[in-house]
Amino acid sequence: PAVEYGLEAPFDVEYHESVPSTNAVARDLADDGASDVVVLADEQTGGRGRLDREWSSPSGGVWLSIVLRPDLPPARVPVITLAAAVAITDAAREAGVDAEIKWPNDVLVGERKLAGILTEMEGEADRVSWVIPGLGINANVDAEELPEGATSIQAEVGVIERRLFVQRLLERFDELRSDPEAVLDAWRERASTLGRDVRVETPDGVVEGEAIDVELPGTLLVETDDGVVRVHAGDCEHLRPA
Ligand code: BTN
Repeated sequence: PAVEYGLEAPFDVEYHESVPSTNAVARDLADDGASDVVVLADEQTGGRGRLDREWSSPSGGVWLSIVLRPDLPPARVPVITLAAAVAITDAAREAGVDAEIKWPNDVLVGERKLAGILTEMEGEADRVSWVIPGLGINANVDAEELPEGATSIQAEVGVIERRLFVQRLLERFDELRSDPEAVLDAWRERASTLGRDVRVETPDGVVEGEAIDVELPGTLLVETDDGVVRVHAGDCEHLRPA
């Protein structure tokens, strides 16, 4: 059952001990007309990641989805995901974790994944009816319970006060969500991707070159031998150092 989380956050937070997926719960709320509501769970039994992957979500993590109704066309929604990545990074840094953003939406410590974001939306071509960024942060998760290549806040700096972490995260997200330029500036400062040689797998083939910048709504600019190629966040299947 859902309970109030009692946070002084800019969103109503509905807390569950265990749900299949907070994104699914959030979608039901969105379909019922909810807005600015956060669904938070201690554990997910059917957590989902990007590209239809499973997302391991043991007890102790921060698994949350935010129901938003922004006045945006679908093409501009990726900036919301970038804002979420910045908010996670800042909350993690405040907790003492040396977090960086890897385009488009992973938060890493070194090469290890600390958090990921799955954004879903519904609506018309000119305006979305809702957007749900789903944020998965390996918070108080034991190293043994993490998938290969992942890390957690607990593994990096020890157990944290999750309530405080969620509060900081939501406050930061709220500051950024209506300011795309500020999101982009903050994102650039926190990105490990820029200035590096990358190899991006897209449905149209592999793009290789130096990641030189990111532009709205979240497009990566890669300088290749054939000139600058723009890669849209949704087209990225895999990004790694070249
Ligand atoms: C990824 O990196 O592949 C994205 C992972 C997103 C996981 C979060 S956890 C909260 C929300 N509920 C889900 O089922 N997925 C997202």
